[in-house]
Amino acid sequence: MFDVNKIRADFPILQRTVNGAPLVYLDNAATSQTPQQVIDVIVKYYSEYNANIHRGVHTLSQEATDAYEQARLKIKEHFNAAKAHEIILTSGTTHSINLVANGFTSLLEAGDEIIVSAMEHHSNIVPWQMLCERTGALLRVIPMNKEGALEMDAYLELLSNKTKLVFCNHVSNALGTINPIKKIIDEAHAVGAAVLVDGAQAAPHIRPDVRALDADFYTISAHKVCGPTGVGMLYGKEQWLQKLPPYQGGGEMISEVTFEKTTYADLPHKFEAGTPNICGGIAFGAGLDYMNAIGFDAIASYEEALLKYATEKLLKIEGLKIYGTTAHKTAVISFNIEGIHPYDIGTILDKLGIAVRTGHHCAQPIMDFFQIPGTVRASFSFYNTKEEVDTLVAGVERAKNMLS
Ligand code: ALA
Repeated sequence: MFDVNKIRADFPILQRTVNGAPLVYLDNAATSQTPQQVIDVIVKYYSEYNANIHRGVHTLSQEATDAYEQARLKIKEHFNAAKAHEIILTSGTTHSINLVANGFTSLLEAGDEIIVSAMEHHSNIVPWQMLCERTGALLRVIPMNKEGALEMDAYLELLSNKTKLVFCNHVSNALGTINPIKKIIDEAHAVGAAVLVDGAQAAPHIRPDVRALDADFYTISAHKVCGPTGVGMLYGKEQWLQKLPPYQGGGEMISEVTFEKTTYADLPHKFEAGTPNICGGIAFGAGLDYMNAIGFDAIASYEEALLKYATEKLLKIEGLKIYGTTAHKTAVISFNIEGIHPYDIGTILDKLGIAVRTGHHCAQPIMDFFQIPGTVRASFSFYNTKEEVDTLVAGVERAKNMLS
């Protein structure tokens, strides 16, 4: 049984007030909040077995290593990777994408083509532009339509034997659109291109299966799935991870070092130079445990109902326009009110204890497409309630009255 009040009791932060009002936290696409179960894991790590991993013979180091590698196994199971060493623990999605972009430098030639979608976060645009500058490869863009859906016919026309890589998010952070990622992958594979899927905004809402999708790379950040900031995952098919050179040099990623020549460690360590975010990795596993205990089917159907309720109520406000109106979307509502700057609405909402994100959401090309400076974005999680939607709607109405 999905009991939202019981779930909310797990999140200490949801009990606080902001500017004298109960916190209504609707910035979940930026980061999810942390349940007590994950906070306990973090406290236990630093209270009982804080040590460096893969290095010491002493008990603390072994306990920390075991917990860290257990977390990697949990992540592997969660995303249905074939092997634990296909899971590289990184500092987050941006790190994961840069690792792959850097690795492809020696695998591309001038004139090769890279395809990205028109609705990418800057972290899935800029590293590829930098890769193009290094290699002479060309960046092509899958356009989108006014509903915020990708133009799939245009995508098929862009694909050719010159296409080497395709990058697309599973879910848009600014619009909530769920992209037809399986079709995007299958069509790319048909021309021999590899696909990296930015799953940062999908993982909080659905349970991606990297093998069923046949993704070559899949990236997420732990802090969107009830884990801490500063840790994330790069999933890569073993054959691709073998092909890519290391990203950073240092301790842990080597097999043998002499001044003449260094050989690299096996996967996953080849990509994990230096002391990692050990506690973060362990807590990442705990965040997934927490969400799996609730169940992603229950989360998805609860959030769908919340999205429907919030969309209907917000659309009753005159002059309010929603960006991202496809039928297939997650619980993200990006909107503006005619004649009012999104930042002003966000500032008034904050005074009422309501946390939303305003601005371009690190997705400026989307804002350019809609010819707007930014939006107000309310992004919902499984611990939000209809009462909080009502508070948001009342807050937006109040902001509108004050600012019109
Ligand atoms: N990418 C995160 C967001 O959309 C930070 O807010």
